[in-house]
Amino acid sequence: METIKLVYPVEGGDLIEAGEASSQMKLTLKKLGLPQDVIRRASICMYEGEINMVIHADGGEATVEVDMDQIVIRMTDHGPGIPDVEQAMKEGFSTAGPAARELGFGAGMGLPNMKRYSDELHVETQLGKGTTVTVRIRIPQ
Ligand SMILES: Nc1ncnc2c1ncn2[C@@H]1O[C@H](COP(=O)(O)OP(=O)(O)OP(=O)(O)O)[C@@H](O)[C@H]1O
Ligand SMILES: [Mg+2]
Repeated sequence: METIKLVYPVEGGDLIEAGEASSQMKLTLKKLGLPQDVIRRASICMYEGEINMVIHADGGEATVEVDMDQIVIRMTDHGPGIPDVEQAMKEGFSTAGPAARELGFGAGMGLPNMKRYSDELHVETQLGKGTTVTVRIRIPQ
């Protein structure tokens, strides 16, 4: 199978519509016939990253590369960046504001869950410039 590359723009500000990119990706992965557990893990990671871009960075873009043996999801934004990545990775740490919390976000579980459900997670961030979160999910052969 050749590498398949999918690109999803993620609009900022709209928490009601948020989650659209991960739903679209999930449908495509299903059509490709990937294992259910791989699809579930990829969808969780994509959903959390997508919501983070909406809440914390006013949107961004997700690219998904699907190979025979792995899915790599890269979520890039031009938001404020993360001052302390180690702190941001801790369960329960959140800077989400009242509007996000009212909709049930802000438990501080997104990044920890992305780590848990992926095989590899990288956060590259620059203050005032933006953040790229990359997750890799291996496809068992
Ligand atoms: N793309 C991003 N840009 C800037 N800051 C971010 C980004 N993603 C995460 N963060 C920071 O890391 C913190 C932890 O993120 P995490 O996803 O774990 O929790 P949350 O988004 O606050 O809450 P939850 O995901 O449980 O709804 C956020 O509160 C925010 O301060
Ligand atoms: Mg989050």
